[in-house]
Amino acid sequence: MEKIYKRIFILTGAGISAESGIGTFRDANGLWNNHKVEDVATVEAFEKNPQYVHRFYNELKPNLLEAKPNLAHLCLTKLQEHYKGQVDIITQNVDVLHEKAGSKNIYHMHGKIDEAICLNCGHLLQSNDDVDMSTICPHCAMAGFMKPNIVFFGEMPLYMPEIEKKLRECDLFISIGTSGVVYPAAGFVHTAKYYGAYTIEFNLEKTSNNYLFDEHISGKCTETLPQFVEQLIAVQENMENENGY
Ligand code: OAD
Repeated sequence: MEKIYKRIFILTGAGISAESGIGTFRDANGLWNNHKVEDVATVEAFEKNPQYVHRFYNELKPNLLEAKPNLAHLCLTKLQEHYKGQVDIITQNVDVLHEKAGSKNIYHMHGKIDEAICLNCGHLLQSNDDVDMSTICPHCAMAGFMKPNIVFFGEMPLYMPEIEKKLRECDLFISIGTSGVVYPAAGFVHTAKYYGAYTIEFNLEKTSNNYLFDEHISGKCTETLPQFVEQLIAVQENMENENGY
């Protein structure tokens, strides 16, 4: 890793928030909290029973909003603050722990727990309180149109044009705490590699798309990331000193 990278693309998944007490999706007693995915995270479920879907996310909200960022989130902030180069965070998580850790350039491709979108006028409502079908949109004044700003199965993830561009331009692609089974995020490593990026996976175990990674760093990300980030920053500082910057 004795190289200075110009553009670092960081993809995060539920694993980065696991040590903040937020369950991952595919573990036993995971984030769906024993609900069937089809009942709470699909377009069909929302069309059939929007109140039920709202209730699920309203119940999830306080836990997600009360959680505190862990060392892995803080490491990414440190990298953004000290590394001279573009460092973007593309997260599949709907929690706000990257924000709480003070990170910037965060793209919530699967939406955000503290937001709802009005399907009548497109207004994005930020709210830490419950939102449901009785919520009146502050923009168009209509009730009955609020949808959690969560990307359901059957919907297009957010920010895809920006993400595609960043994937083509990055020279270091890092994946942290994601199982690599949900597309399109699972395919990002392929695009990044195709366009020449060095690719690294941080996970407890090798994932199914591990063959696309140049390096796999095994372990809890709160234990593996600190050293990695320190090293990236140190390599850059050493090279700058050697080159007399
Ligand atoms: P998953 O629950 O599928 O995977 C979590 C990954 O994190 C697993 O591969 C774990 O091995 C790893 N992991 C757990 N603890 C870790 C730790 N302390 N350090 C490092 N790795 C750890 O969660 P995601 O991959 O994020 O989408 O799931 C992707 C999407 O599936 C979610 O965004 C969600 C769901 O459908 C939507 O809801 C739209």
